[in-house]
Parts: sequence; structure tokens; C-alpha cells
Amino acid sequence: MDKFHIKGGRPLEGRVQISGAKNSALPCMAAALLTPETVILHNIPYVRDIITQRRLLEDIGATVLMPELRTHKITASHIELFEAPYELVKTMRASVLALGPLLARFGKARVSLPGGCAIGTRPIDLHLAGFQHLGATVRLESGDVVARAPRGGRLRGAEIKFDKVTVTGTENLMMAATLAKGTTVLRGAACEPEIADLAELLNSMGARVRGAGTPTITIEGVEALGGAEHTIIPDRIETGTFIVAAAITRGDLEIKGCHPEHSGALIAKLREVGVEIVEVNQSTVHVSCCPNGLRSRDVVTEPYPNFPTDMQAQYMALMTQAEGRSVISETIFENRFMHASEMQRMGARIQIEGHNAIVEGISPLTGARVQASDLRASASLVLAGLAAQGETIIDRVYHIDRGYEKIEDKLKQVGARIERLRDSVTASLQMPRGVEGMAAEVA
Ligand code: UD1
Repeated sequence: MDKFHIKGGRPLEGRVQISGAKNSALPCMAAALLTPETVILHNIPYVRDIITQRRLLEDIGATVLMPELRTHKITASHIELFEAPYELVKTMRASVLALGPLLARFGKARVSLPGGCAIGTRPIDLHLAGFQHLGATVRLESGDVVARAPRGGRLRGAEIKFDKVTVTGTENLMMAATLAKGTTVLRGAACEPEIADLAELLNSMGARVRGAGTPTITIEGVEALGGAEHTIIPDRIETGTFIVAAAITRGDLEIKGCHPEHSGALIAKLREVGVEIVEVNQSTVHVSCCPNGLRSRDVVTEPYPNFPTDMQAQYMALMTQAEGRSVISETIFENRFMHASEMQRMGARIQIEGHNAIVEGISPLTGARVQASDLRASASLVLAGLAAQGETIIDRVYHIDRGYEKIEDKLKQVGARIERLRDSVTASLQMPRGVEGMAAEVA
């Protein structure tokens, strides 16, 4: 398994370019299953989850051409299988996004039921209840969810109220409803920018979706959808991660190709703690840090437009470097503090009490061997490593490869000392051994 080797303590300075949003690209790729015509998607990030989603589409019979690295031309004219198998769903939960489009277009779909993951149980009961409201029968068969449209093969429009905000649940039902007979109203829908981006694609395919980006989405079903061309929005979590990277290293970064308005809650919170963030224009932010040091501030993760759970781990890394005590409350996932114990190995003072992490700053961080447990946790450990004195080795960086495009290259371009230790290199390293020794072997 690849590792990162980081020599910390150097401010990041320069320009960094943000990639397309993984969490928007994944549902947009699934949406291509709604039509036999070609859907062309630009600004697809080059990350592991996208490769997994492409494999899923190809496995079930779609063709995916890549005339350029970040452009996908997807044609789902000959679908042979109507399922997402366990091997794919277990590596990437977003494979369940195939369910809505397959059910809507073909009247049947089978998707392996995702199990728990490192950050919690993460059920899909709300997706399934929604499909039932649209007239589908849903049953569990050998660990798979098997869904069928009512007689005649077409879902029926319905009013669906979500008990809890779910991002992929909203996306799955929005896609399913595009081809349903009649009108569907989704209430309590997620408002994330990725939902609005997906709706924009669906509408350019001929769907009639209104209100995406608000809690009430209305979808008038149509008979068929056609091809379209669409550019994926920039990744707001990658944007946020680089803003924190500038702040935690006391650096100065120009972050380009982003949509600052999608990071409103994060930017407001970081300004409160003392980070200087200037919106240069609609697609650039300039971050400089921090003439008067960093102050601790509490934060609560909540659905968009509030502070995102996907930035909680990175914010925790930052709070270890802020003056005073902060309480970080995680309300979306029940087990999303795995990074805290790894940061403690680097000298952070963090106490977990139920849904709250209490961080005491300023804690001088020192390099250590740590292990990534999930995608955003890995990003937070990279940030901690960049701020730490000495050398950090982060194990299991395949987690970060799921969602950050070439993060080590982007960081190196702005002055970070970070190297990927390839599997073949790390395999030859013997334990026990000091971190210094490992670095020498890699160099
Ligand atoms: C999406 C994002 C992920 C982000 C999360 C929350 C993608 C591919 N992933 O994940 O990066 O961290 O939103 O912003 O877009 N829940 C249920 N029943 C359901 C569905 C969800 O109880 O049927 C619960 C979940 O366990 C969780 C909460 O609702 O506690 C929110 O989950 P959800 O918004 O569905 O997360 P994802 O869409 O999986």
C-alpha cells in the first residue's frame, strides 16, 4: 500500500488549480444510464472513485470513451446487466447511484446493499423507501437490493418527504423521477451544489427538474431523455482543503478554478478564526495566513449550506494550531473522529466525548507514523503532517486517492515536501526503523 512521506514546517506559497467535484461527477456519470444517447461530461476529476464508477458503467454494458483525461463520453445504448455487484459497492458506496437510473429506464435494478464503513453504518433505507413511493417493489435477496417498477415498467410520480437530509438519496430519487409517469415532489431534499449540478445535466438531457438546490424539488416525468454535454462544477471540498493547507502552514495560496460561493460556511468560519481569505473573483480565492495567529472557534457539521462534514477532519487539524479550546460537533456521521487518535500521535490534544471533539490549542505537532482511515481523514493527516516539525509517514493513502486528484503533485508545486512511497519501495522497508531511515531509502 502506498504511503506519503512528508517533511513538515514549510509554508505553502503559490497557485493551485482545483479539479472537478468527485461528488458531482459520480451522480452525473450514473445519469448517463437514463438515455441510450451519448452524454459528454467535462472536468471529471482523475481520482480512484471515478475509475470505479467507470468500471461499473462498463461492466453493465455502457461504453465510456475518454477523448481527453478529464472528458468522459458515456453511451448506455446496450445495457446487458442491471446490477451493481458487491465488489464495486463495497469499495465505493456511491455505486448505489446506479439504482435510480436503471430502475427508471429499464424497470428493474439490483444493487448490492452497502454495509457499514469506517465513518458509520450509512444505510440506504431512505433511497429504498423513496423508490417504493414511486411504485417500485423493493426486496432483499442474498444481500442485494432488488427493485422493480410497477406493471408496465414505469415508475409513478409521487410526493416524497425525507425524514433526514440525504445527498445521494436525493440524487437517486431525482434521477428515478425524471422518467416516471406524472410529477414527483421531493421535500426535505439535500441542497448541496452537487444536486443542482446534477439537475442541470438532467435538464439538458430533456428532464423537467425545478427547485434543485432548495429543500423542495419538483420533477415532471418525461417519456425519454436524450444526450447532452455538461461541465462538472469545481470540487468545494478540495478547495476547502487547500484553504486550510495555506492556513495551517502559515502560507499564501491563490486557489484557482473554484466556486467560492459553494464554500461560504467554511470561508466564514475560517475568517472567524483569523485566516485572511480574499475572493479575487468568481473562480479564485487568495488565502494568506495569519498575521495575528489563529483563534479557536467551535463548529457544528450540518447539511449544506452549513459547515460540511467533509471538512470536519481538516478543520480539526487546523484547530490544533489555534489558540484556546474548540469543540467540534459531528452531527452527520456517528463515527467520524478516527483521525483524532492519529493526530494525538503527532502531539495534538483532542478528547472525544460522544459527537464532540474537544481540541486544545496550540499543540506543537511533531512528525509520526500515522494511518489514514477514510478519505477526508487522510487529507487531515496530510495537513497535520505539513504543519508538523519533522517527518510524517501516512499509511493507507489509497483512501486519499479515492477523491483528491494528484494531491502530492499539487502540494509539491506550492512548496510542500511530500513524496509518495510506492508499494514496491515501502515493501522493501524493514521494521522497526526510524522515519529518517525510511526517508533516506526513498530519496
Ligand atoms: C454524501 C457525500 C459524502 C458526504 C455526505 C454528507 C457523495 C458521493 N458523498 O454521502 O462525501 O460526507 O454526503 O454530506 O456525494 N442516511 C440514512 N438513510 C439513508 C441515507 C442516509 O440514515 O437512506 C444517513 C446517513 O447514515 C448519514 C446521513 O443520513 O448519517 C447523511 O448521509 P448522506 O447525505 O446520504 O451521505 P451520502 O450521500 O452517502
